[in-house]
Amino acid sequence: MAPVLYSIALVLSSLEALSSLHAGLDSSVIEQVRSNLIAIASQSWELGTAAEALTELDWPALSVFNASAFPPPHVLNSANNASDVLKIANDTVSAKPNDSLALVANDGAVGDPASIGVAVLLANWTDSSNTSYAIAAGEQLDYLLNVAPRTGAISQRSDEVQLWADFIYMAPPFIAYYGALQAGDNESYLLQTAYKQISLYRDVLRDDDGLWRHVALGSWEDTTHWATGNGWAAAGMLRVLETLNHSSMTTDFADQTANLTQWIQEILSSSWQYQLENGTLLNTIDDSNSFADSSGTALLASVTYRMAVFTNDTSLIPNADKAFQLVESNIDGDGWLRDTVDPETFDSPSAADSPSPEGQAFVLLLQAAYSDYAEAVISGQVLPSSNSSASSGSEGSGDDDDDGSILRRCRLVRSH
Ligand SMILES: *[C@@H]1O[C@H](CO)[C@@H](O)[C@H](O)[C@H]1NC(C)=O
Ligand SMILES: *[C@@H]1O[C@H](CO)[C@@H](O)[C@H](O)[C@H]1NC(C)=O
Ligand SMILES: *[C@@H]1O[C@H](CO)[C@@H](O)[C@H](O)[C@H]1NC(C)=O
Ligand SMILES: *[C@@H]1O[C@H](CO)[C@@H](O)[C@H](O)[C@H]1NC(C)=O
Ligand SMILES: *[C@@H]1O[C@H](CO)[C@@H](O)[C@H](O)[C@H]1NC(C)=O
Ligand SMILES: *[C@@H]1O[C@H](CO)[C@@H](O)[C@H](O)[C@H]1NC(C)=O
Ligand SMILES: *[C@@H]1O[C@H](CO)[C@@H](O)[C@H](O)[C@H]1NC(C)=O
Ligand SMILES: *[C@@H]1O[C@H](CO)[C@@H](O)[C@H](O)[C@H]1NC(C)=O
Ligand SMILES: *[C@@H]1O[C@H](CO)[C@@H](O)[C@H](O)[C@H]1NC(C)=O
Ligand SMILES: *[C@@H]1O[C@H](CO)[C@@H](O)[C@H](O)[C@H]1NC(C)=O
Ligand SMILES: *[C@@H]1O[C@H](CO)[C@@H](O)[C@H](O)[C@H]1NC(C)=O
Ligand SMILES: *[C@@H]1O[C@H](CO)[C@@H](O)[C@H](O)[C@H]1NC(C)=O
Repeated sequence: MAPVLYSIALVLSSLEALSSLHAGLDSSVIEQVRSNLIAIASQSWELGTAAEALTELDWPALSVFNASAFPPPHVLNSANNASDVLKIANDTVSAKPNDSLALVANDGAVGDPASIGVAVLLANWTDSSNTSYAIAAGEQLDYLLNVAPRTGAISQRSDEVQLWADFIYMAPPFIAYYGALQAGDNESYLLQTAYKQISLYRDVLRDDDGLWRHVALGSWEDTTHWATGNGWAAAGMLRVLETLNHSSMTTDFADQTANLTQWIQEILSSSWQYQLENGTLLNTIDDSNSFADSSGTALLASVTYRMAVFTNDTSLIPNADKAFQLVESNIDGDGWLRDTVDPETFDSPSAADSPSPEGQAFVLLLQAAYSDYAEAVISGQVLPSSNSSASSGSEGSGDDDDDGSILRRCRLVRSH
């Protein structure tokens, strides 16, 4: 092709790429969702998930999704200060009694307190004035690796060996992050441990149709294919995958990276098969008698956008776009995500006066993932399939008129 024609073709294909994008959430909505999250996150796993969501959304340079993740800067500048994330770390370490190895004492769960560990490690790395963070992170790691009950796989519960899909988001990302901040044998040992734990969990929880059960072993089980549980598993694997990919040892972990990629894709493609017409997944993904759950839907959609960037495979983007619209239409005028599962019962909808803290965080994870996806499309790093999201993506956004939309879409690209 002659150069001029070539560049016209390039411009046309970029326009086509742009037109496949939707607008994302308005910043005023994000603001409300974020402040509601901070107001109600209180349980260990909610705080850990909130810290991760705030990192990905507001301080992306510090998140494991960024090529600049390792090592993080020792001094954060005022424009990139991670203040809300470091506050969660400070509050947690300040409240931790000395006789607790876990970051949150007497939690009952083994994995959940560790979810705050990534923020604690970041606090240590960026504030050398107090050794409490490093000591607390080290004790949390010791508890996971050497004290908690296990059968090869480390238990999610402290009083018996029981494996929950949730564990995958709570502990392996912390173990891997800890490793990526070390060097040499300790680094490779911890990166491999994070991967190995995922692999052991998958051996027990994965069913033949590719979906994961929620809870196995121990005094009771939940054999259902819980949407949020599949989301925890896929999103936790994704964080470990990205940590491996951006660590200094990435080339030593090519096989692990390939397996994690396949395991995540398996959950995504198995789940989206069951997506309803309006974009939702059901709380028990493959049980048509179950109820719609916007929170698990949001978490799985966030992983879908991230994986499209990682693999360049955009075939599930239409599903993610439909899910995004569904999630957006479930955010009420005060910034609360509605139509969620009650995160403490797993099998009933949230009461009207009791929104889901983790659901609030999943909305932020979704927005952060979508922004990065849009940035990758705009920069030409990912080519959306021509068939991709334009039709499903613009249905719900009535304000996507031709001229305004591209400008508006470009606003998705982060300013910091
Ligand atoms: C990585 O961080 C830089 C800032 O250092 C930011 O501009 C970029 O958008 C981030 N990319 C991702 C994928 O998070
Ligand atoms: C941290 O960053 C936020 C957002 O950029 C800003 O509003 C706040 O003032 C900063 N805090 C400090 C202590 O620099
Ligand atoms: C948490 O913040 C308080 C008040 O700024 C400070 O005194 C304390 O040392 C901090 N904790 C850690 C672990 O740095
Ligand atoms: C370090 O942080 C801990 C927990 O917040 C606090 O109890 C301790 O006083 C701090 N030490 C110093 C030297 O600031
Ligand atoms: C708790 O541990 C910190 C840091 O190791 C130490 O400074 C402090 O004296 C200890 N507090 C108690 C009550 O033992
Ligand atoms: C804590 O931060 C220091 C750098 O300030 C680093 O050398 C050390 O390895 C960190 N500790 C952990 C457990 O990451
Ligand atoms: C590895 O970990 C051990 C025990 O935690 C520590 O003593 C050693 O200094 C670490 N080695 C490196 C290279 O960080
Ligand atoms: C992992 O990271 C490397 C180096 O940053 C990059 O070239 C590669 O595309 C990434 N993805 C995979 C699947 O390895
Ligand atoms: C990756 O998965 C394959 C197939 O299950 C397995 O044979 C192989 O050992 C795995 N690789 C690693 C590094 O675990
Ligand atoms: C989506 O469809 C399901 C099943 O009909 C329904 O329960 C749910 O309320 C719908 N959600 C929205 C936002 O329309
Ligand atoms: C994705 O595909 C585009 C277009 O073919 C290519 O330019 C880009 O390098 C690919 N990215 C990855 C991560 O493979
Ligand atoms: C377009 O995408 C949909 C949904 O992913 C898929 O079912 C269909 O086969 C695709 N059509 C073409 C022509 O690629």
